[in-house]
Amino acid sequence: MRPRHKIGLAGLLAISVAAAFFAWLGVFNVAASTGHWSVTNRLLHFAMRASVRVYALSVTVPDLRKTGLLQASAVHFQAGCAYCHGAPGVSPSPAALSMLPPPPGLSNKISEWTDAQLFRIVRHGVRYTGMPAWPAPDRDDEVWGMVAFLRELPSLDGEHYRELVAGPATSEAGEVSGFDADLARCAQCHGADGVGRSEDVPVIAGQSGAYLLASLKAYLEGRRRSGVMQVAVSQTNEDTFEALAQYYAGRPEPAKPVGDTASIARGREIAERGLPRKGVPACLGCHGGSRKNPAYPRIAGQKKLYLETQLRLFAAGRRGGTAYSSIMAKVAATLDDTDIADVTAYFTSAR
Ligand code: HEC
Ligand code: HEC
Ligand code: HEC
Repeated sequence: MRPRHKIGLAGLLAISVAAAFFAWLGVFNVAASTGHWSVTNRLLHFAMRASVRVYALSVTVPDLRKTGLLQASAVHFQAGCAYCHGAPGVSPSPAALSMLPPPPGLSNKISEWTDAQLFRIVRHGVRYTGMPAWPAPDRDDEVWGMVAFLRELPSLDGEHYRELVAGPATSEAGEVSGFDADLARCAQCHGADGVGRSEDVPVIAGQSGAYLLASLKAYLEGRRRSGVMQVAVSQTNEDTFEALAQYYAGRPEPAKPVGDTASIARGREIAERGLPRKGVPACLGCHGGSRKNPAYPRIAGQKKLYLETQLRLFAAGRRGGTAYSSIMAKVAATLDDTDIADVTAYFTSAR
C-alpha cells in the first residue's frame, strides 16, 4: 500500500473512532422536543423531495378515475392517517403534533406533488419521520385508490368528508363498545346491510359464514394482504370475528342487475363448462349452488371491479386467503384478459 493511502485510511479510522466516542458520550441531543436546527430542517426536507422526485420517475400512473377505491380510501384515511395529518373538520392527535418533524396538514400540500410522487410517498413512507409505508406492500391498486382520494381531499369540506367516512369522524366512537362498535366500523365501508357502500367494497351479505370468518383471520394473520382490511381487523376485537361473520352471512343478498350481452353469454359458458382446450375449469364446479364447500365463496352478484381485481391478484400469486386459496390461484392463471372480462360480466349479473 502506498504511504498516501495509509494516511487516508488512518484518517478515516480516526474519524470513525471519534464519532463513536462522541455518540458514546451521549451529549448529542436526540430529543424530539427541541426541534431541528432550521438548516437541518431544510436539508432533510430538500433530501426528501429530491428522493421522492427521482424514485417517482419509474412509476407508471394508471387512469385514476378507474381505481374506484375512493370511499374505502376515505374511511381508511380516517382510521390510519387522520390522527397524524388531521382531515377536514378533524384535528390531528396532540401526540402526533409533538413528533419531529410534525406531520403536516395535507389539504394545501397535495397540489405540490404529481400523482406518481404521491404514490411513491404513500407506498413507501418517509424514513426518519414517522410517515409509514403502506401496510400491504403488494397492493399498488389500494395505494392508487388512496392517491385518488388525496387528489379530492383539498376540495372536501368537513361535511362532505364526514359523509364519505360515514361514521364517527372524531373520537366519539368511545360511546359504544364490543360488537356494536366493531360492527359500526365495518359498516363504514360494508354498510350495515353488507352490500358495500360503493363499487369499491365487495358484497359480503349472504356470503358463507365459514368463508367470511376464515377471510378475517387470513387478513389478521397477514396471509391475505390488503392495507385497508388489515388495518380494519387490527382495530377489531378478535372475539367478535365469529359474530360479525354470522351477522353478515345472515343479511339478505342484494338484488342483482340483469344483463344480456355477448360477454355475459360467453362468461356463462365458461362458468358452466369451462374452456377445456385452454385448461379453464368450470367455475360453478366450486362456486355454484349447494354442492360447494362452505369455505368456497359465493361469487354470483359480486361487484365487477372487485372480481377483476381479485382474479388478477390470484393470477399474480398475490392473493392469499383461506386454506384453499392455492386452488384458486391455479384456476386464475388459466384466464386471459378477455376471459376475465367475460366471467366477471357473467357473475356480476348472475343469480
Ligand atoms: C405516525 C404519523 C403519520 C401517519 C400515521 C401518516 N403520516 Fe403521512 N407524514 C407524516 C410525516 C411526519 C410527514 C412529513 C415527512 C417529511 O416532511 O419529510 C408525512 C408526509 C406525508 C405526505 C407528504 C406531505 C408533504 O408535502 O410533505 C403525504 C402525502 C402523506 N404523508 C400521506 C399520508 C397518508 C395517505 C397516510 C395514511 C395512509 C399517512 N400519511 C399516515 C406522518 C404520518
Ligand atoms: C375502510 C373500509 C373497510 C372497512 C372499515 C372494513 N372493510 Fe372489509 N373490505 C373492504 C375492502 C376494500 C375489501 C376488499 C379487500 C381485498 O382486496 O382483499 C374488504 C374485504 C372484506 C372481506 C373479504 C370479502 C371476500 O369476498 O373475500 C371480508 C370478510 C370483510 N371485508 C369483512 C369486514 C368486517 C367484518 C369488517 C369490520 C371489522 C370490515 N370488513 C371492515 C373495506 C373495508
Ligand atoms: C377447484 C375449485 C374452484 C374452481 C374450479 C374455481 N374456483 Fe374460484 N375460488 C375457489 C376457492 C377455494 C376460493 C377462495 C380462496 C380463498 O380466499 O381462500 C375462490 C375464490 C374466488 C374468487 C374471490 C372471491 C372473493 O369473494 O374474494 C373469485 C373472484 C373466483 N374464485 C373466481 C373464479 C372463477 C371466475 C372461476 C372459473 C374460471 C373459478 N373461480 C373457479 C375455488 C375454485
